[in-house]
Amino acid sequence: MSGTCVIGLQWGDEAKGKLVDLLAPQFDLVVRYQGGANAGHTVVAGDEVYKLHHIPSGILHPEVQNLITPGVVINPTTMLDEINGLAKRGVICQDNLRISERAHLVMPWHMAEDKFINATVVRGESIGTTNRGIGPCYRDKVGRTHAIRMTDLVQSTRDERIGIVAEQKVTLLGNMGAPQEDLDEIAPDKIVALAASWADQLHGMIGDTTDFLLDACEADKRILFEGAQGALLDIDHGTFPFVTSSNSSGVGVCAGAGVPPRWINQVLGVCKAYSTRVGGGPFPTELEDETGDRIRKLGNEFGTTTGRPRRCGWFDAVAVRYTARLSGVTRLALMMMDVLSHLDELKVCVAYELDGERIERLPSHADQIRRCLPIYETIPGWKQPVDDVRSVDEFPAGALAYVKRIEELVGIPVGVLSVGPDRAQTVFTDAAAELSLQPLGPQ
Ligand code: IMP
Repeated sequence: MSGTCVIGLQWGDEAKGKLVDLLAPQFDLVVRYQGGANAGHTVVAGDEVYKLHHIPSGILHPEVQNLITPGVVINPTTMLDEINGLAKRGVICQDNLRISERAHLVMPWHMAEDKFINATVVRGESIGTTNRGIGPCYRDKVGRTHAIRMTDLVQSTRDERIGIVAEQKVTLLGNMGAPQEDLDEIAPDKIVALAASWADQLHGMIGDTTDFLLDACEADKRILFEGAQGALLDIDHGTFPFVTSSNSSGVGVCAGAGVPPRWINQVLGVCKAYSTRVGGGPFPTELEDETGDRIRKLGNEFGTTTGRPRRCGWFDAVAVRYTARLSGVTRLALMMMDVLSHLDELKVCVAYELDGERIERLPSHADQIRRCLPIYETIPGWKQPVDDVRSVDEFPAGALAYVKRIEELVGIPVGVLSVGPDRAQTVFTDAAAELSLQPLGPQ
């Protein structure tokens, strides 16, 4: 059996969805195992652009079974919008999507609470969440008392349980000072009726995914685990508190999917050839100048989920070395190489200066990371478009020199280079053979 993970190594938006969609036909199963509608995975198939939030990026391949496992938090209203939107375009999720009955639900009160708390400033800036209710939902999961899971939707106790929690949430949010219109939205009667309609529409797809996945492992199936967000946003290992509420680095796969480590043998670490971050938090290589604006424009760096402009900066080899080691990365995928084609010179951060000292590791405190001054190496730009490049030897020498330096600094070979959003704009290097992937045929 081959368990391959696709993990973002920066602050999310590394174009993981494109890779998962491209690799999916070589797998029997694609598994989403953490995060929720805060994710926005864009898949470009010919002239069609799909923006997926909950649904695994393998959904466009009818022969691939897609799983949403216990570690994901699901907003049924947005998930149904997504399922219905795909159906209008001929993609029928009912055929090849199974949703774990153990997954937790993002309820309307989580959205209200997220919006309310997100407006709060922590150490000079707000976390800048996606306002999708992610943090409050994971908090209720850990707190247990107020948690609602998929399985609750299909139990005879549903209305009673959801009604009681809704009543308590009205009181709790009211005491916090939430506006009356938000409290009206979570009135118990309204939520009980909403939950019944979710159950009607989703019950055919809700089931056990844990046994299903373990059976697949034991039956030697090929499984692709699709990470959401990026490892620098990991709740335990990222740039806390400016992180998301799940384990978005490679260490999150086992707990979120319900799979023991023995079944995972390859990890593809995905990063952009530069860096981006959306929301608040420290970002040592951020470019708040014309070059940053240029990268944003050339890379169309605006959020898939919220439309927010992304903060842009140079490639940070210190941060990526850390997240690649943490995630057990066996090969790197370097995305958006085409965006850098237009720049005269490129910089790569090789170390930081923190309070007058050179360091080569990412500090754990956000205030320390904020004080890190990047130490750069400058590499000449190749100033030649690469979007038509389809094999390694077609790249300009300057582009290959840039890739080689990143491999040296991160300490892991690059197996995949992406030169544009389309499936065909992907180059597999010799190092990709280690991933046991079949060479791609004509797209
Ligand atoms: P939350 O996940 O909505 O709680 O947001 C927490 C932080 O993670 C914020 O800085 C968000 O901008 C960021 N974030 C969450 N999901 C994504 C994503 O899919 N891509 C990029 N950033 C994300």
